[in-house]
Amino acid sequence: MPKNLPKNLPENHVHLYEVGPRDGLQNEPEKIAAKDKIALINSLNKVGFSLIEATSFVSPKWVPQLGDAAEVMAGITRAPGMRYAVLTPNMRGFEDAKAANIDEVAVFGAASEGFSQKNINCSKQESLERFRPVVAAASREGIAVRGYISVVVHCPYEGAVQPESVLEMAEALLEMGCYEISLGDTTGHATPESVSALLDIIAAKLNPDILVGHFHDTYNYAVENVMTSLSYGIRKFDASVSGLGGCPFAPGAKGNVSTGLLHDALIAAGWQTGLDREALKASEALVTEMGLRPR
Ligand code: HMG
Ligand code: MG
Repeated sequence: MPKNLPKNLPENHVHLYEVGPRDGLQNEPEKIAAKDKIALINSLNKVGFSLIEATSFVSPKWVPQLGDAAEVMAGITRAPGMRYAVLTPNMRGFEDAKAANIDEVAVFGAASEGFSQKNINCSKQESLERFRPVVAAASREGIAVRGYISVVVHCPYEGAVQPESVLEMAEALLEMGCYEISLGDTTGHATPESVSALLDIIAAKLNPDILVGHFHDTYNYAVENVMTSLSYGIRKFDASVSGLGGCPFAPGAKGNVSTGLLHDALIAAGWQTGLDREALKASEALVTEMGLRPR
Protein backbone atom coordinates (compact mmCIF):
# COMPACT_ATOMS: atom_id res chain seq x y z
CA MET A 1 0.00 0.00 0.00
CA PRO A 2 1.18 3.54 -0.60
CA LYS A 3 2.69 5.41 2.28
CA ASN A 4 1.21 8.62 3.64
CA LEU A 5 -2.35 8.19 2.35
CA PRO A 6 -4.40 10.86 4.11
CA LYS A 7 -6.60 9.43 6.85
CA ASN A 8 -9.91 10.43 8.43
CA LEU A 9 -11.12 12.43 5.46
CA PRO A 10 -14.80 13.31 5.18
CA GLU A 11 -17.05 11.07 3.07
CA ASN A 12 -17.42 13.73 0.42
CA HIS A 13 -13.66 14.03 -0.11
CA VAL A 14 -12.35 13.51 -3.65
CA HIS A 15 -8.61 12.97 -4.17
CA LEU A 16 -7.10 14.88 -7.06
CA TYR A 17 -3.69 13.63 -8.16
CA GLU A 18 -1.59 16.16 -10.05
CA VAL A 19 -0.08 14.64 -13.19
CA GLY A 20 0.85 17.91 -14.93
CA PRO A 21 4.62 17.67 -14.57
CA ARG A 22 4.51 14.25 -16.32
CA ASP A 23 1.47 13.93 -18.59
CA GLY A 24 1.23 17.72 -18.95
CA LEU A 25 4.76 18.20 -20.18
CA GLN A 26 5.61 14.96 -22.02
CA ASN A 27 3.98 16.08 -25.28
CA GLU A 28 5.38 19.63 -25.39
CA PRO A 29 7.39 20.01 -28.60
CA GLU A 30 9.77 22.73 -27.31
CA LYS A 31 12.34 21.62 -24.76
CA ILE A 32 11.42 22.83 -21.28
CA ALA A 33 14.41 23.49 -19.02
CA ALA A 34 14.76 21.22 -15.99
CA LYS A 35 14.84 24.29 -13.74
CA ASP A 36 11.37 25.30 -15.01
CA LYS A 37 10.00 21.80 -14.40
CA ILE A 38 11.48 21.93 -10.90
CA ALA A 39 9.90 25.36 -10.28
CA LEU A 40 6.51 24.00 -11.42
CA ILE A 41 6.70 21.01 -9.07
CA ASN A 42 7.86 23.22 -6.19
CA SER A 43 4.89 25.50 -6.85
CA LEU A 44 2.48 22.52 -6.97
CA ASN A 45 3.93 21.39 -3.61
CA LYS A 46 1.95 24.21 -1.99
CA VAL A 47 -1.48 23.21 -3.38
CA GLY A 48 -2.18 20.35 -0.98
CA PHE A 49 -2.04 17.28 -3.23
CA SER A 50 -1.07 13.96 -1.70
CA LEU A 51 0.58 12.81 -4.92
CA ILE A 52 2.37 14.59 -7.75
CA GLU A 53 3.38 12.58 -10.80
CA ALA A 54 6.69 14.27 -11.41
CA THR A 55 8.22 12.73 -14.55
CA SER A 56 8.91 9.45 -16.38
CA PHE A 57 11.93 7.18 -16.49
CA VAL A 58 11.32 6.12 -20.08
CA SER A 59 13.56 6.01 -23.11
CA PRO A 60 14.64 9.56 -24.06
CA LYS A 61 14.52 8.39 -27.68
CA TRP A 62 10.78 7.85 -27.26
CA VAL A 63 9.97 10.85 -25.04
CA PRO A 64 12.83 13.36 -25.34
CA GLN A 65 11.00 15.96 -23.24
CA LEU A 66 11.39 13.84 -20.10
CA GLY A 67 15.00 12.83 -20.68
CA ASP A 68 16.00 14.96 -17.69
CA ALA A 69 14.00 12.88 -15.18
CA ALA A 70 16.94 12.28 -12.81
CA GLU A 71 17.90 15.96 -12.83
CA VAL A 72 14.32 17.00 -12.10
CA MET A 73 13.97 14.55 -9.22
CA ALA A 74 17.29 15.69 -7.77
CA GLY A 75 16.30 19.35 -7.98
CA ILE A 76 12.82 19.44 -6.44
CA THR A 77 12.07 20.32 -2.85
CA ARG A 78 10.41 17.34 -1.18
CA ALA A 79 7.28 18.51 0.61
CA PRO A 80 6.65 16.55 3.83
CA GLY A 81 4.14 13.73 3.31
CA MET A 82 3.99 14.17 -0.47
CA ARG A 83 4.32 11.12 -2.71
CA TYR A 84 6.36 11.83 -5.84
CA ALA A 85 5.42 9.27 -8.48
CA VAL A 86 7.02 8.49 -11.83
CA LEU A 87 6.34 6.21 -14.81
CA THR A 88 8.61 3.18 -15.20
CA PRO A 89 7.98 0.97 -18.25
CA ASN A 90 10.70 -1.59 -17.49
CA MET A 91 13.46 -2.59 -15.05
CA ARG A 92 15.86 0.00 -16.46
CA GLY A 93 13.29 2.71 -15.68
CA PHE A 94 12.63 1.26 -12.24
CA GLU A 95 16.33 1.13 -11.29
CA ASP A 96 16.85 4.72 -12.43
CA ALA A 97 13.72 5.83 -10.58
CA LYS A 98 14.82 4.11 -7.39
CA ALA A 99 18.22 5.78 -7.62
CA ALA A 100 16.34 9.09 -7.92
CA ASN A 101 14.59 8.38 -4.62
CA ILE A 102 11.01 8.34 -5.90
CA ASP A 103 8.12 7.43 -3.58
CA GLU A 104 5.94 5.53 -5.99
CA VAL A 105 6.11 4.19 -9.55
CA ALA A 106 3.58 3.38 -12.25
CA VAL A 107 3.65 0.73 -14.95
CA PHE A 108 1.50 1.56 -17.95
CA GLY A 109 -0.29 -0.92 -20.16
CA ALA A 110 -3.12 -0.61 -22.64
CA ALA A 111 -6.48 -2.18 -23.33
CA SER A 112 -5.75 -2.45 -27.07
CA GLU A 113 -2.89 -4.18 -28.91
CA GLY A 114 -2.53 -1.23 -31.29
CA PHE A 115 -1.85 1.32 -28.57
CA SER A 116 0.41 -1.05 -26.63
CA GLN A 117 2.61 -1.45 -29.70
CA LYS A 118 2.73 2.26 -30.53
CA ASN A 119 3.30 3.42 -26.94
CA ILE A 120 5.70 0.85 -25.50
CA ASN A 121 6.69 -1.21 -28.52
CA CYS A 122 5.32 -4.55 -27.35
CA SER A 123 2.12 -6.57 -27.16
CA LYS A 124 -0.17 -6.48 -24.12
CA GLN A 125 1.10 -9.89 -23.02
CA GLU A 126 4.73 -8.85 -23.43
CA SER A 127 4.02 -5.67 -21.45
CA LEU A 128 2.74 -7.75 -18.53
CA GLU A 129 5.91 -9.82 -18.66
CA ARG A 130 7.99 -6.61 -18.52
CA PHE A 131 5.95 -5.18 -15.66
CA ARG A 132 6.09 -8.29 -13.48
CA PRO A 133 9.75 -7.88 -12.40
CA VAL A 134 9.19 -4.14 -11.88
CA VAL A 135 6.28 -4.78 -9.52
CA ALA A 136 8.20 -7.56 -7.74
CA ALA A 137 11.30 -5.37 -7.27
CA ALA A 138 9.18 -2.44 -6.09
CA SER A 139 7.41 -4.69 -3.62
CA ARG A 140 10.76 -5.84 -2.18
CA GLU A 141 11.73 -2.17 -1.74
CA GLY A 142 8.36 -1.21 -0.21
CA ILE A 143 7.57 1.04 -3.18
CA ALA A 144 3.90 1.16 -4.24
CA VAL A 145 3.07 0.56 -7.90
CA ARG A 146 0.13 2.06 -9.74
CA GLY A 147 -1.10 0.29 -12.87
CA TYR A 148 -2.27 2.50 -15.71
CA ILE A 149 -4.49 1.19 -18.46
CA SER A 150 -4.67 3.41 -21.54
CA VAL A 151 -7.39 3.60 -24.18
CA VAL A 152 -10.11 2.28 -21.88
CA VAL A 153 -12.87 3.49 -24.17
CA HIS A 154 -11.32 4.41 -27.51
CA CYS A 155 -8.05 3.58 -29.23
CA PRO A 156 -6.62 5.91 -31.89
CA TYR A 157 -5.53 2.85 -33.90
CA GLU A 158 -8.42 0.39 -33.35
CA GLY A 159 -11.49 2.50 -32.48
CA ALA A 160 -13.94 1.40 -29.79
CA VAL A 161 -12.50 -0.69 -26.94
CA GLN A 162 -14.54 -3.31 -25.09
CA PRO A 163 -14.81 -3.02 -21.28
CA GLU A 164 -13.89 -6.72 -21.03
CA SER A 165 -10.42 -5.94 -22.46
CA VAL A 166 -9.96 -3.30 -19.75
CA LEU A 167 -11.10 -5.70 -17.03
CA GLU A 168 -8.71 -8.39 -18.22
CA MET A 169 -5.75 -5.96 -18.07
CA ALA A 170 -6.85 -4.57 -14.70
CA GLU A 171 -7.11 -8.04 -13.18
CA ALA A 172 -3.64 -8.95 -14.51
CA LEU A 173 -2.08 -5.79 -13.06
CA LEU A 174 -3.78 -6.24 -9.70
CA GLU A 175 -2.83 -9.90 -9.52
CA MET A 176 0.77 -8.82 -10.15
CA GLY A 177 0.65 -6.46 -7.15
CA CYS A 178 -0.38 -3.01 -8.40
CA TYR A 179 -2.29 -1.28 -5.59
CA GLU A 180 -4.56 0.81 -7.82
CA ILE A 181 -5.63 1.03 -11.44
CA SER A 182 -5.84 4.33 -13.27
CA LEU A 183 -8.31 4.10 -16.13
CA GLY A 184 -6.96 6.24 -18.96
CA ASP A 185 -9.25 7.83 -21.50
CA THR A 186 -6.15 8.62 -23.51
CA THR A 187 -7.86 10.23 -26.49
CA GLY A 188 -10.65 12.01 -24.59
CA HIS A 189 -13.37 10.24 -26.58
CA ALA A 190 -15.19 9.01 -23.45
CA THR A 191 -18.67 10.31 -22.68
CA PRO A 192 -20.86 9.71 -19.62
CA GLU A 193 -22.54 6.90 -21.60
CA SER A 194 -19.32 5.11 -22.51
CA VAL A 195 -17.92 5.65 -19.00
CA SER A 196 -21.08 4.06 -17.59
CA ALA A 197 -20.76 1.13 -20.00
CA LEU A 198 -17.14 0.69 -18.84
CA LEU A 199 -17.85 1.02 -15.13
CA ASP A 200 -20.92 -1.24 -15.26
CA ILE A 201 -18.40 -3.99 -15.97
CA ILE A 202 -15.32 -2.78 -14.05
CA ALA A 203 -16.92 -1.51 -10.84
CA ALA A 204 -19.09 -4.63 -10.64
CA LYS A 205 -15.88 -6.71 -10.34
CA LEU A 206 -13.36 -4.36 -8.68
CA ASN A 207 -13.60 -2.24 -5.55
CA PRO A 208 -14.00 1.40 -6.62
CA ASP A 209 -11.50 2.33 -3.87
CA ILE A 210 -8.70 0.99 -6.03
CA LEU A 211 -9.85 2.73 -9.22
CA VAL A 212 -8.73 6.14 -10.49
CA GLY A 213 -10.25 8.14 -13.36
CA HIS A 214 -7.77 9.66 -15.84
CA PHE A 215 -9.71 11.69 -18.36
CA HIS A 216 -8.25 13.69 -21.20
CA ASP A 217 -10.47 16.58 -22.18
CA THR A 218 -10.44 16.57 -25.98
CA TYR A 219 -14.18 17.13 -26.35
CA ASN A 220 -14.89 18.81 -22.98
CA TYR A 221 -16.52 15.71 -21.49
CA ALA A 222 -13.91 15.11 -18.79
CA VAL A 223 -15.74 16.84 -15.92
CA GLU A 224 -18.98 15.01 -16.76
CA ASN A 225 -17.01 11.77 -16.95
CA VAL A 226 -15.66 12.43 -13.45
CA MET A 227 -19.19 13.09 -12.18
CA THR A 228 -20.35 9.80 -13.73
CA SER A 229 -17.40 7.97 -12.13
CA LEU A 230 -18.31 9.43 -8.73
CA SER A 231 -21.71 7.78 -9.02
CA TYR A 232 -19.88 4.42 -9.23
CA GLY A 233 -18.02 5.15 -5.98
CA ILE A 234 -14.70 6.23 -7.55
CA ARG A 235 -13.10 8.99 -5.47
CA LYS A 236 -9.64 9.41 -7.05
CA PHE A 237 -8.93 11.32 -10.24
CA ASP A 238 -5.85 12.43 -12.13
CA ALA A 239 -5.80 16.03 -13.31
CA SER A 240 -3.27 18.41 -14.75
CA VAL A 241 -2.53 22.01 -13.87
CA SER A 242 -4.06 24.31 -16.50
CA GLY A 243 -5.27 21.27 -18.46
CA LEU A 244 -1.85 20.55 -19.96
CA GLY A 245 -1.16 17.13 -21.37
CA GLY A 246 -1.41 14.58 -24.08
CA CYS A 247 0.40 11.49 -25.23
CA PRO A 248 2.89 11.61 -28.10
CA PHE A 249 1.55 8.21 -29.23
CA ALA A 250 -2.14 9.21 -29.23
CA PRO A 251 -2.52 11.63 -32.14
CA GLY A 252 -5.22 14.27 -31.60
CA ALA A 253 -5.47 13.70 -27.85
CA LYS A 254 -5.71 16.86 -25.83
CA GLY A 255 -4.69 17.66 -22.27
CA ASN A 256 -5.84 16.06 -19.05
CA VAL A 257 -8.81 17.58 -17.33
CA SER A 258 -7.65 20.84 -15.77
CA THR A 259 -7.07 20.52 -12.02
CA GLY A 260 -8.57 23.95 -11.37
CA LEU A 261 -11.64 23.35 -13.55
CA LEU A 262 -12.26 19.98 -11.94
CA HIS A 263 -11.70 21.36 -8.45
CA ASP A 264 -14.22 24.16 -9.07
CA ALA A 265 -16.81 21.78 -10.56
CA LEU A 266 -16.44 19.41 -7.62
CA ILE A 267 -16.79 22.19 -5.05
CA ALA A 268 -19.88 23.51 -6.87
CA ALA A 269 -21.38 20.01 -6.68
CA GLY A 270 -20.76 19.77 -2.91
CA TRP A 271 -17.56 17.71 -2.87
CA GLN A 272 -14.32 18.58 -1.06
CA THR A 273 -10.80 18.30 -2.43
CA GLY A 274 -8.71 19.84 0.35
CA LEU A 275 -6.80 21.85 -2.25
CA ASP A 276 -5.76 25.47 -1.80
CA ARG A 277 -7.29 27.19 -4.84
CA GLU A 278 -5.15 30.31 -4.43
CA ALA A 279 -1.97 28.22 -4.44
CA LEU A 280 -3.26 26.39 -7.52
CA LYS A 281 -3.84 29.75 -9.22
CA ALA A 282 -0.20 30.59 -8.56
CA SER A 283 0.82 27.35 -10.30
CA GLU A 284 -1.51 28.18 -13.20
CA ALA A 285 0.12 31.60 -13.47
CA LEU A 286 3.52 29.92 -13.57
CA VAL A 287 2.34 27.68 -16.42
CA THR A 288 1.29 30.80 -18.33
CA GLU A 289 4.65 32.44 -17.60
CA MET A 290 6.35 29.33 -18.98
CA GLY A 291 4.43 29.93 -22.22
CA LEU A 292 2.50 26.67 -21.91
CA ARG A 293 -1.16 26.07 -22.65
CA PRO A 294 -3.37 23.05 -23.37
CA ARG A 295 -3.04 21.77 -26.94
P1 HMG B 1 12.22 -0.25 -27.01
O1 HMG B 1 12.90 0.54 -28.09
O2 HMG B 1 11.41 -1.42 -27.42
O3 HMG B 1 13.21 -0.67 -25.83
O4 HMG B 1 11.29 0.75 -26.21
P2 HMG B 1 14.57 -1.39 -25.75
O5 HMG B 1 14.55 -2.15 -24.49
O6 HMG B 1 14.83 -2.13 -27.06
O7 HMG B 1 15.61 -0.19 -25.63
C1 HMG B 1 15.86 0.72 -26.68
C2 HMG B 1 16.79 1.81 -26.17
O8 HMG B 1 16.14 2.57 -25.14
C3 HMG B 1 18.07 1.28 -25.54
O9 HMG B 1 19.06 2.28 -25.75
C4 HMG B 1 17.74 1.23 -24.08
O10 HMG B 1 18.86 1.33 -23.24
C5 HMG B 1 16.88 2.47 -23.91
P3 HMG B 1 20.15 2.15 -26.93
O11 HMG B 1 20.82 0.85 -26.68
O12 HMG B 1 19.35 2.17 -28.21
O13 HMG B 1 20.99 3.36 -26.73
N1 HMG B 1 15.93 2.34 -22.82
C6 HMG B 1 15.78 3.24 -21.83
N2 HMG B 1 16.42 4.40 -21.58
C7 HMG B 1 16.05 5.07 -20.47
N3 HMG B 1 15.06 4.64 -19.64
C8 HMG B 1 14.41 3.50 -19.88
C9 HMG B 1 14.77 2.75 -21.01
N4 HMG B 1 14.33 1.59 -21.53
C10 HMG B 1 15.04 1.35 -22.62
N5 HMG B 1 13.44 3.09 -19.06
C11 HMG B 1 10.27 1.47 -24.18
C12 HMG B 1 10.51 0.30 -25.11
C13 HMG B 1 9.19 1.04 -23.21
C14 HMG B 1 11.56 1.77 -23.43
C15 HMG B 1 9.84 2.69 -25.01
O14 HMG B 1 8.80 2.31 -25.85
C16 HMG B 1 9.41 3.85 -24.16
O15 HMG B 1 10.20 4.44 -23.43
N6 HMG B 1 8.12 4.23 -24.24
C17 HMG B 1 7.61 5.31 -23.42
C18 HMG B 1 6.29 5.72 -23.92
C19 HMG B 1 5.72 6.82 -23.07
O16 HMG B 1 6.35 7.32 -22.14
N7 HMG B 1 4.48 7.20 -23.41
C20 HMG B 1 3.81 8.24 -22.69
C21 HMG B 1 3.39 7.82 -21.33
S1 HMG B 1 1.94 6.79 -21.33
C22 HMG B 1 0.64 7.93 -21.36
O17 HMG B 1 0.84 9.09 -21.54
C23 HMG B 1 -0.73 7.42 -21.07
C24 HMG B 1 -1.18 7.75 -19.63
O18 HMG B 1 -1.15 9.15 -19.39
C25 HMG B 1 -2.60 7.23 -19.39
C26 HMG B 1 -3.57 7.66 -20.50
O19 HMG B 1 -3.75 8.87 -20.72
O20 HMG B 1 -4.11 6.72 -21.12
C27 HMG B 1 -0.27 7.07 -18.60
MG1 MG C 1 -2.68 10.53 -19.93
